[in-house]
Amino acid sequence: MRIALVIFDMDGVITETTHEHYQAWTLLFKKHFNINLNPDFETYTRGVSRLESLEILLSKSGIHIASLDVKKALANEKNLMYQQLIQAFDSSKVLPGVKDLIHYLKERNIKIALGSASKNGSFLLERLGLKDAFDYHVDPSHLRSKPKPDIFLDAMHHFRLSPKACLGIEDAEAGIQAIKAAGMYAIGVGKEPLIQADWKLNDLASLDYQKLEEILMNPYEK
Ligand code: BG6
Ligand code: MG
Repeated sequence: MRIALVIFDMDGVITETTHEHYQAWTLLFKKHFNINLNPDFETYTRGVSRLESLEILLSKSGIHIASLDVKKALANEKNLMYQQLIQAFDSSKVLPGVKDLIHYLKERNIKIALGSASKNGSFLLERLGLKDAFDYHVDPSHLRSKPKPDIFLDAMHHFRLSPKACLGIEDAEAGIQAIKAAGMYAIGVGKEPLIQADWKLNDLASLDYQKLEEILMNPYEK
């Protein structure tokens, strides 16, 4: 079966926001707990929703907060800091190779969707000048976060497709697990090992289009 839909993650795939996310968390923890977050913790929050990221960072810092309202207020404050940091994003922040890939897929009538855990995904796409290029944006607000498959399945259901006709692109371990849990073909990009990915690339600029063509035509042929 051919691929009819490609679902892109945002952070780390279309643009690089890891630094801004982590900078906002760092400011928050310094302000409220006078803690300097360990830079290594960043990998634990990649691809993980805002509230779950907070839970992870609290637990790694040995802080216990029982009240969900307090945790939501902290997550909200982090988001306001994060939104300030991404205000200045523009099309120069689109990662190398992304526009070429979108163009290539559109020429072949393959649908493209945004499947980000971020509630700032649509805002960022607009800032990057890519909003209209995408056929669908998944709203993650009421979906279980990655590594659960919900975000990818939502995009698939929107186009009334089966998993085998969908391909996901992710930079995070949680994201690759979500794509595989959805039963789809997974392309992994970036520095993490992502051993569950069906195809692993350093970045989209080094994409081998001949191999991609073969995968899109018949992803499960060995
Ligand atoms: C993911 C990021 O894409 O989105 C995570 O990798 C982030 O770091 C998550 O926590 C949620 O983003 P937001 O913008 O809704 O806080
Ligand atoms: Mg990501």
